[in-house]
Amino acid sequence: MTTDINKANISRRSLLQIAGWGSLLATFGIAIGSGLRFLYPRVLFEKPSTFKIGAPDDFKINGDSDYQVYEIWKAEQSVWIVREKNRMYALYAKCTHLGCTPNYFADDKVFKCPCHGSQFRGNGINFTGPAPRPLDRFNISISKEGIIAVDKSRVYTFKEFDKRGAYVEV
Ligand code: FES
Repeated sequence: MTTDINKANISRRSLLQIAGWGSLLATFGIAIGSGLRFLYPRVLFEKPSTFKIGAPDDFKINGDSDYQVYEIWKAEQSVWIVREKNRMYALYAKCTHLGCTPNYFADDKVFKCPCHGSQFRGNGINFTGPAPRPLDRFNISISKEGIIAVDKSRVYTFKEFDKRGAYVEV
C-alpha cells in the first residue's frame, strides 16, 4: 500500500518536473526567437522609384505619325513612354478622374478609361469624359551617356508640362 502511494507521488513529481522543464525551454525559445527577430528588423523592400529605359534611338516613330506610344513599362511600372520627334515624356498610367488604369488603342492613338469613359489622346491630353485634366507625367531625364531614366517620385500635372523634367529633349 505504501509502495503504491510512493509510486504515485514519484510519477506525479516526474510529470511536474517535465512540465517545469518544458515551460522553461519554451520561455528560452521565445526569448531567443525575439532576440533573433530584433537582429533582423522588418524592412519593407520597395521598388526603386527610378528606372532606366534606354537610349533615344531605342524609340522610333513608326510611319508618318507625330509620336509613338510605348507600353513596355505599363504593367510593371504604370508608365507609358511617348516619343515625339524631338522630345520624350513618361505618362502616368492612371486616369485623372478616379484613378483607374486606361488602355491604349494604338490604331486610334487614344487612351480609353474603362471605368467612366474618359479618353485621352496619345500625348495624354483629355478630350472626353469626366477626367478633369490630362494624364500626369513622371520625371524623365537623360544622362551624359545618353541613357534615359524615369523617376516616379516626381509627378508633373499639366500646368508643369513645360518644366524641365516633365519631358526630355532628344
Ligand atoms: S476613373 Fe477614368 S473615367 Fe473615371
